[in-house]
Amino acid sequence: MVSPTVLRKKRFARIERKTEPEPNPESRNSGNRSSSEERLQALQEELDALIGLQSVKSTIREIQAYAQIQRKRSALQLTSQPIVLHTIFIGNPGTAKTTVARLLSKMLAEMGILEKGHTVEVERADLVAEYIGQTAHRTREAIKKAMGGLLFVDEAYSLARGGERDFGKEAIDTLVKAMEDHRGQFVVVLAGYPEPMQAFLRTNPGLHSRFPLMIEFPDYTDVELFKIAESMFGQRQYVLSKGARRRLADLIRQMRSRDPITFGNARTIRNIVEKTIRMQAVRLMGKANVSVDELITILEQDVQGESVRYRSYW
Ligand SMILES: Nc1ncnc2c1ncn2[C@@H]1O[C@H](COP(=O)(O)OP(=O)(O)O)[C@@H](O)[C@H]1O
Ligand SMILES: [Mg+2]
Repeated sequence: MVSPTVLRKKRFARIERKTEPEPNPESRNSGNRSSSEERLQALQEELDALIGLQSVKSTIREIQAYAQIQRKRSALQLTSQPIVLHTIFIGNPGTAKTTVARLLSKMLAEMGILEKGHTVEVERADLVAEYIGQTAHRTREAIKKAMGGLLFVDEAYSLARGGERDFGKEAIDTLVKAMEDHRGQFVVVLAGYPEPMQAFLRTNPGLHSRFPLMIEFPDYTDVELFKIAESMFGQRQYVLSKGARRRLADLIRQMRSRDPITFGNARTIRNIVEKTIRMQAVRLMGKANVSVDELITILEQDVQGESVRYRSYW
């Protein structure tokens, strides 16, 4: 755990750094290559800093390696496979699908595989319209925005919701066509919860075959969720008292067991963190002479879940 003293030192260190001279422009321009390598390294560190997700991290590494080596092979006129990186992300809410997609897009751009590296997040309502012909237009617009980056289709199975006669099918067909027409120019990620996603892929084999990669995002363990909470508090410069840590661990256990199906993994944790920070603020509001330690420290009574009230059992 970071102690308040450490946090204060960090803050001072930051102020000191501000007064450091700007790096000389010549060394900064010493080659875009190294700076894009540095940026790739920073993105890699961002990915590594995510708690848990070991299998996700190693698959991303595989994708990176594969793309890079295929490019090197084709540059040397060796037989290379076309780099098709369309991927299916399967996982429950709050398991970092969106976070990882954004990082992946940026990484591919730094590697020179995508031109821009942005992410366009869409769901059914962004692609499907109410009138004939409108859906193809709407879907093409979304694809246009995603060119050079990544199109992230959340809850992709909802495109197949209404069956054959639904306009969702028009969105799927338009997407498939664009994937052919603009090969290599953008990456599509279809994301969704495990069961409906598996069913969707089974009933749309033509679509499935265009997605060679699949990444499964497992639910976090209680220990991982606790670490995620700690890191979120740390990023916001808060530290937990011993009592607060105990209560947080209990709350995590309780919230998962209350409704394991709709449990929002790291998203639920983010809500707990935000609610707790507000509760600490309410406790300190109106208090005269609040010290730095008080501003930083989260006490047991501050720790609260989202809508579900924490009930103490002792
Ligand atoms: N392993 C992790 N470590 C730290 N924060 C995480 C982790 N996984 C998810 N988060 C945070 O939880 C929130 C929800 O993640 P998100 O990527 O939106 O999940 P999903 O798209 O799977 O629903 C985000 O604020 C994200 O930064
Ligand atoms: Mg998401």
